[in-house]
Amino acid sequence: MKLCSGQRDVEFYADSLLPHKNVVIQSAVVNEKRRLEVVINGEKLQYPGVWVRQNCHCPECFNPVTQSYISSLKKVAYENLKLKSAEVSETGDSVRCEHTDGHITEFDALWLYNRRMTKDGAKERHATLKISTPVSWPNPSDMVVKRISYKEVTETYEGFETFGKSIIEDGIVIMTEAPEGQVFKDFIQKTGLTRTANHYGEFWYVKSEPNPTNFAYTTSELDFHIDQPYLYNDLNIQVLHFLNQVTVGGENIMSDAVKAANILKERNPEYYHALTTTEFVYEDLVAHETHSPQFFLTKSTPVINLDENGQPKAIKWSHSCRSSFFNGLPEQYELLMKAAQEYHKILYEFAIEIKNQPGDMMVFDNRRLVHGRKAFGSDEPRLIEGWYFDWDMLYSYLRVAMMKRKKVEP
Ligand SMILES: [Fe+2]
Ligand SMILES: [Zn+2]
Repeated sequence: MKLCSGQRDVEFYADSLLPHKNVVIQSAVVNEKRRLEVVINGEKLQYPGVWVRQNCHCPECFNPVTQSYISSLKKVAYENLKLKSAEVSETGDSVRCEHTDGHITEFDALWLYNRRMTKDGAKERHATLKISTPVSWPNPSDMVVKRISYKEVTETYEGFETFGKSIIEDGIVIMTEAPEGQVFKDFIQKTGLTRTANHYGEFWYVKSEPNPTNFAYTTSELDFHIDQPYLYNDLNIQVLHFLNQVTVGGENIMSDAVKAANILKERNPEYYHALTTTEFVYEDLVAHETHSPQFFLTKSTPVINLDENGQPKAIKWSHSCRSSFFNGLPEQYELLMKAAQEYHKILYEFAIEIKNQPGDMMVFDNRRLVHGRKAFGSDEPRLIEGWYFDWDMLYSYLRVAMMKRKKVEP
C-alpha cells in the first residue's frame, strides 16, 4: 500500500484568492453511489469517487511545481477504481480516503470545501476569478476617471490592482507621470501585459501626417469609434500615451457605449433591436507604408454585440472603417442608420471630455467604450504612442498581484 503525503504539504496558489473560512469536516462516508460524502460546517457535500482519485496530490499523482496532475487516463483505469473508505481526522481538518487499489488520498478541509460541487460554490469561485464587474457610468458631471501614477502601477501590487480594477469597473484609467519618451517596452516588461498583435505593428504613433494612411493621422475631429471593428479577435484594451499635446483642441471624448445601448433599449426598443441584429460591414484595405492594398480585413457584425445573457457587451462602431458593402435589404439599411443616429446622440449625451497632458497614459476598454477626439491646429506637435493588450493577460496579472499582496500582508 502506498501512503500519500496528502494535500497539506502542497501549496495551491489559486486557493489563496478565495475567501478564508474556518471549516471543519464533521463526518465522511463513501455513499451508495461510491461518492465521497462529507458534512462540512453543517453542509452535506458530495464528490465523485473518480474526482477524488484524479485530484490526489501525492507525488505519484501531482507535480506541485507545475501545479498539474501527472496521472492520465492512459495510465490509470479510473473505471475500475472505486472509493473504498473515508475517514475524518481527529480535529476535522482533513479527510483520508482509500481507493480499491489501496491508493490513499488525503484532502484538507478548506481545500475540499473550496471545490464544493454546488451552485453557490461555483458562484463564489466565478466571482473571485472575475475580480470585479463593470459599473455603469454616472451622469457626465459625476463621472470621475481614476488617476494613478505610472510608478505606482508598475512597481506596486496595490497600484496594479487599482489600475486593473478601474479598467474592469469603469472601462478607463489614466496613468500619470509616465517616463519621458517611448514607454511601450518598459510598461510591458514591468507589468507582463504583452501587446496584442495587429497589422499596424507592435505599437503605433498617432500624429498628423502630410499624406495620412489612416484618418486618425489627420488634425480633424474624430467621431466616436472603437478601434478596428473589422477584426475577429477583438482588440480588448487600448493604451494612448501622450508624448505631446496641443494647447487648443485635441481633447479626447469618451462614452460608456454599453450604458448608451441600455438607454436606447428603454427609449426605442425597435432601434435597439435593429442595432443588435442587423449586421454592418467593416473593412480595412489600406497599407500602412505604401498606400497599396497589402491587407484586406473585413467583418460583418451588429453594432451592439450581446453577451450570453442577452445583455449589451461590446460595441462595434467606427464610421471611418464602414464598408459600402451591406448584406441586408434596403429597408434594413434605412432603419439601421436611423437607429445608429439615435444611438450616437445618446453616446454624446453621456460623454465626458478629457484633455490629456504629456506623461498621461489613458488606458481604456476598446469594446465597452467609444472614443473620439476634437480637432486641433497643425502648428503645434501632438504625438501619441499607442498599443493594445488583452483581457486574458490583465486578469492573469491581476490575480497574481492579488495573490502576492495577500502573501506579503501580515
Ligand atoms: Fe481610435
Ligand atoms: Zn496519489
